[in-house]
Amino acid sequence: MKLGDRLIRHYLQFKDLRAEEYAYLFARTRIIKSRFKNYERYQPLVDRSLAMIFEKASTRTRVSFEAGMYQMGGSVLHMTTGDSQLGRAEPVADSARVISRMVDLVMIRTFEQTRIEGFARHSRVPVINGLTNEYHPCQILADLYTYIEHRGQRFDEANVLDCLKGITVAWVGDGNNMANTWLQAAELLGFKVHISTPSGYEVNPAVAGVSADCFRVFNHPLEACAGAHLVTTDVWTSMGYEAENEERRKAFVDWCVDDEMMAAAQPDALFMHCLPAHRGEEVTAEVIDGPQSVVWDEAENRMHVQKGLMEFLLLGRIG
Ligand code: CP
Ligand code: NVA
Repeated sequence: MKLGDRLIRHYLQFKDLRAEEYAYLFARTRIIKSRFKNYERYQPLVDRSLAMIFEKASTRTRVSFEAGMYQMGGSVLHMTTGDSQLGRAEPVADSARVISRMVDLVMIRTFEQTRIEGFARHSRVPVINGLTNEYHPCQILADLYTYIEHRGQRFDEANVLDCLKGITVAWVGDGNNMANTWLQAAELLGFKVHISTPSGYEVNPAVAGVSADCFRVFNHPLEACAGAHLVTTDVWTSMGYEAENEERRKAFVDWCVDDEMMAAAQPDALFMHCLPAHRGEEVTAEVIDGPQSVVWDEAENRMHVQKGLMEFLLLGRIG
C-alpha cells in the first residue's frame, strides 16, 4: 500500500530499517531531542493522529508515544483489548481495515508477532511494534541511541554508527523479546552479543531471524560479561508468561547482574535495563542505582527516538 506517493513502511521488527536509515534516525533524534530540551516548538505532525492499541500493560511505551505525538502537534487515541471489540474477537484484519481509515499511524503492543503482522497486512497506514512476545524494536532503538549519546560524543549521520562497530553487549537472563531484538541489531549494525541464559530459556536464532555469527553463548553469566562494553538484562518473567513465574524464579536465581559481573566488564561499561525492573531478582539495587547505570536516560530516550521514528514513517527523510 502507498502513503501519498511513497510506499507504506511498517516498523514491526528491528530489521525493518536498514543501517543507513538508523544512522539518519539517530542523527535526527539528536536534533529533535535538542529542540525539546530547549523548549523549541516543533510540530510537523499537526492534524495527524496515532492509535495506540495495548493488549498488555505499559508505562513507558504509553507515555513516550503519547507525550511525543502531542509534542509534535498530533493527537493520540488509547485503546485496550478490554475497551474495544478486539477483546470480543473482532478479527484483527477487520480492526486494521477500520482503524487505519481514521488515523495516520498505529502502534500496537500485543502477544504473538503474527498478530501485529496480520494487522499490518490490512492497514492503510504505518504500524509500529510497541512490543510483542518476539520483539521490542522501539526499546532497542532507544538503548542504542543511549549508548551512542554516552559513547559517541560529537556524532553526525556519517559517523554515528561507528561507536557501535565491534562492541560487545552482554545479555544476562531470558532469551526473550529483548534478546531477540538485540541479536537483530547486532547483525545489522556490526556488533556482538554475549548471551547467558538458564538452560531451557535460550534464544532461538530462528525466531530472532539471525545467523549464529552475531552472538556467542556462555553457560555462566560472569563469562558473558567479561570485557563487555554494555551489560543488560530484563525481567525473569515477561508479560504473558506469568503462569511460569515460580518455575522461572528457581531457574534464574544465578542470573542476577551484580557488582562482580559489572567488574568483569570493561571499566567504563554501561548498564541498561528496559524497565520495569525487579531489584534483587535480575539486577541488584547496587548496579541499577549505581554509577554505571543509564536506565533513566534509556527510558527518556524512548520518547525522543520514537518521535524521530514517527516523523520518518509519516514524512520520510527531512532535509
Ligand atoms: N520498557 C517498556 O517498554 O516499558 P513499558 O512496559 O512500561 O512500556
Ligand atoms: N521482556 C519484557 C519487557 C517489558 C518492557 C516483557 O515482554 O514483559
